[in-house]
Amino acid sequence: MSNELYAVVGHPINHSKSPRIHSLFAKQTGEPVEYTAIQAPLDCFADTVRQFFEGGGKGLNVTVPFKEQAWELADQRAARAEKAGAANTLYQNSEGQLVADNTDGQGLVQDLTVNHGIQLKSANILILGAGGAVRGVLGPLLAQQPASLTIANRTVAKAEALATLFADEANDTKLNACGFNEPDQSFDLIINGTSASLQGDLPPLNENVIAADTVVYDMMYSLQTTTFNQWALDNGAVRVFDGLGMLIEQAAESFRVWRGVQPATAPVIDVLRND
Ligand code: ATR
Repeated sequence: MSNELYAVVGHPINHSKSPRIHSLFAKQTGEPVEYTAIQAPLDCFADTVRQFFEGGGKGLNVTVPFKEQAWELADQRAARAEKAGAANTLYQNSEGQLVADNTDGQGLVQDLTVNHGIQLKSANILILGAGGAVRGVLGPLLAQQPASLTIANRTVAKAEALATLFADEANDTKLNACGFNEPDQSFDLIINGTSASLQGDLPPLNENVIAADTVVYDMMYSLQTTTFNQWALDNGAVRVFDGLGMLIEQAAESFRVWRGVQPATAPVIDVLRND
């Protein structure tokens, strides 16, 4: 059987790990998947998508800075993508319509609960940031029914807007919005969804948000301990994780959406951790 074509689209794209992850999934499952990386010109995302599918492509992952455009371009959206306002997965349905999905939130929840064994139900969670990355994961986090979810952001109005947007999905979860320096008690889980570390910055949190049993999760990943996780370790956290598992889990969920086959993620996490 000849291979079917998939790709990740972004700008820049040369450091993307997605081609490596998906080729490991293809090898493991025996699915006839060929997966490449495409750098779309900043002003030509829609044309790039159109050309890819006209050329017989089967599915796309979408990354920075095109996730919102992917969401807008779609004819249909999966329910979990609708509120996220952004899409990381595109494919065509049998009528040739472009369908958008968002697997980031599922990827985060899967990494936290399955790979790291963290219970989210009834947990008190602090999430930092109120940009696209955080918006994309709020729905799946709330679906786990934490006791509280506090969104803290540099620009408090953006955190408040997200809390309002997701109020109807909160059910029994206490959903709060605030600035970074407001939370003054420890949390079960702190998730960093800001891009502050890209500028070498740290959100100015009170140190007492961390207790010895607080789990700290940085949605970013790097070979070295991330700036945020190092701050958490320096302030008494014991369990800190970066976002490599989330990256691989969101990829696995995209693969499942496209192929109907669930790849095993643990061996792929092992390979990438040691690359
Ligand atoms: P992304 O898609 O990564 O979420 P984004 O939508 O631009 O990107 O959002 C970036 C997030 O990181 C925002 O919450 C931003 O805070 P503001 O809403 O106040 O802009 C946060 N952020 C970026 N740089 C930061 C910094 N140096 N310190 C603290 N927060 C920062």
